[in-house]
Amino acid sequence: MRIVSISENKKIEKRIAITPEIAKKYIALGLEIFLSENYGEHLGFKDSEYKELGVKISNNEKEIIENADIIAQLGLLSEDKISFVKKNQILIGIFNPYSNKEKLQNLIKDNINIFSLELLPRITRAQSMDILSSQANLAGYKAVLESFASFEKAIPMMMTAAGTVPAAKVLVVGAGVAGLQAIATAKRMGAIVFATDVRTASKEQVESLGGKFLTVQGAENLETEGGYAKEASEDFKKKQEELLSETLKKIDIVICTALIPGKKAPIIIKDTMINNMQSGSIIYDLAAIQGGNTAFTEVDKIVDKNGVKIMGETNILNKLATSASSLYAKNVFNFVSNLYDKENNKININLEDEIIDKTLIK
Ligand code: NAI
Repeated sequence: MRIVSISENKKIEKRIAITPEIAKKYIALGLEIFLSENYGEHLGFKDSEYKELGVKISNNEKEIIENADIIAQLGLLSEDKISFVKKNQILIGIFNPYSNKEKLQNLIKDNINIFSLELLPRITRAQSMDILSSQANLAGYKAVLESFASFEKAIPMMMTAAGTVPAAKVLVVGAGVAGLQAIATAKRMGAIVFATDVRTASKEQVESLGGKFLTVQGAENLETEGGYAKEASEDFKKKQEELLSETLKKIDIVICTALIPGKKAPIIIKDTMINNMQSGSIIYDLAAIQGGNTAFTEVDKIVDKNGVKIMGETNILNKLATSASSLYAKNVFNFVSNLYDKENNKININLEDEIIDKTLIK
């Protein structure tokens, strides 16, 4: 049984799916590994390090893919490389099933088994495979660092002989995995942190991290059974807008993380709200790639509106690709271990297993 991975287009994806630490674990599990040349070089993982572990390396990507049972990647392979994938092979990655629906359907017509890990159910048994959580956690942390680095004032309160510097006020919109990590990071750096969410359960979590929860009065709890957010009603949106309009006048930094699975991100920070913010404020929009949580977000650009900088990028995880790869590779390993029947040395696509059933593209 062989698991392979080939280099991603490093201009858009610096993370890797198999780190040397995890290569060792696959080999111990009984799997062979085949990687493309210079696979982890950009993260400091030399081919020689992989080879010493027993990993096979080649510069022929066609040969690597054709000899695979499992192909573990980050994103979908480019058109030329996907043509090497054949019947009964298994493709694992983050394939964006909502926007890549047609491409994925064409592949499954050829009997290729595709597992898209963002579809993992949020159940306890799947936690060690949960790529959304591991990556969102790092993204939430890094968004705070990026926004603080662009902010031209200090973050913690400082009392000096020359006077007092006030603590920066941060608002986190969406208190899921990324939002909670953003709150914890901003608190650790001395900011005063506010947060809001449509799920009432998040109030307690925000408060346990020392954040102040902004409750949209009279609003219903918009949580699905799976723990995700439902789309807000017009009434909720109006009340949320009133609450945030007032709050934003005093906020220095906003971290946006609000998402609704399979849908465009909700626009929460409207143009009038931004116009009322203080010049010098920063908005870091982690939802940028899904359309953004603000009226002006543009991917990979810093938009300036009356001195308010709005930032958002395609893949913030490229800025901490080593940590992100380390967690992602572990998530994929745990997923593969669940698929692999060691005793019979075969892959068992058991649709009775909720983890396998929900992630398999059908
Ligand atoms: P997400 O990335 O889909 O969304 C981020 C946050 O934005 C969510 O908290 C969502 O409620 C919020 N949001 C959506 N629309 C909004 C709006 N209009 N205004 C304000 N906030 C809005 O969510 P994420 O981070 O993936 O977490 C989803 C849920 O899954 C959470 O309940 C989390 O605790 C749970 N979870 C459970 C795990 C488990 O294994 N049991 C593991 C990880 C997360």
